[in-house]
Amino acid sequence: MIIAGNWKLNLGPAGAADWVRTVTTALAEMPAGEGTEVVAFPPALSLHAAALARPKGAPLALGVQQVHPAASGAFTGESSAELAREAGAEWCLVGHSERRTLFGETDAEVVRRVEAALRAGLRPLVCVGETLEERRAGRLEEVLVRQLDAVLAPPGLRDRLGGTAFAVAYEPVWAIGTGETATPKDASEAHALLLHLLRARLGPGPADGVPILYGGSVNPENAADLLSAPGVGGVLVGGASLDPQAFLGILRAAS
Ligand code: PGA
Repeated sequence: MIIAGNWKLNLGPAGAADWVRTVTTALAEMPAGEGTEVVAFPPALSLHAAALARPKGAPLALGVQQVHPAASGAFTGESSAELAREAGAEWCLVGHSERRTLFGETDAEVVRRVEAALRAGLRPLVCVGETLEERRAGRLEEVLVRQLDAVLAPPGLRDRLGGTAFAVAYEPVWAIGTGETATPKDASEAHALLLHLLRARLGPGPADGVPILYGGSVNPENAADLLSAPGVGGVLVGGASLDPQAFLGILRAAS
């Protein structure tokens, strides 16, 4: 199970360091359950400060929210998977709905960023999810399959993903930052569709090892129900992850 916090554009270096100190101190006293991975995704500018604040061996992994496909070069304003790794990242979010809708990121760009993450040795956390209009139009399956299959269909990428510890997050766009949460049943249905596709592409063994996280208005109150829904292998938490106490509340709900 993976409990991940996506801070989005929040918490500068000092705030990130405070957050990491608070959460790792609490984790030392209240270890996350066996097999639970805890991951934080600070903004790129705070990643290194978060890594430096992390006590050696603390059970907290860090990730970057976004990378450019290239490793380096004349790409003013961008950061790469290689630089993120050097700054302390082990994970990389790819295809978050805010990237898709606010920054026009296409499925093809998602593929290039997954490739970049793998090239640098980062574990991709591939986000997929439908809008309310798509759900109402009965297009849930079509949208999820299109978004996930973009990264699973190309044979070279599929082979590399098959041998990598990557993860998928189901984040219905209508539940992100809205206070509106999918029901555990909604999450289970979507996760079953994603698992079906993972099995078809990777084979049952490797597919069953890919955690499928739910994301969208997760908080300490609803986390236990969502985490116990069949097929839910963790949560990706936005707003509620900014407050270390709320994030720790979600971790407690997971154990
Ligand atoms: P939220 O965001 O928890 O604030 O809804 C989740 C996400 O965007 O990853």
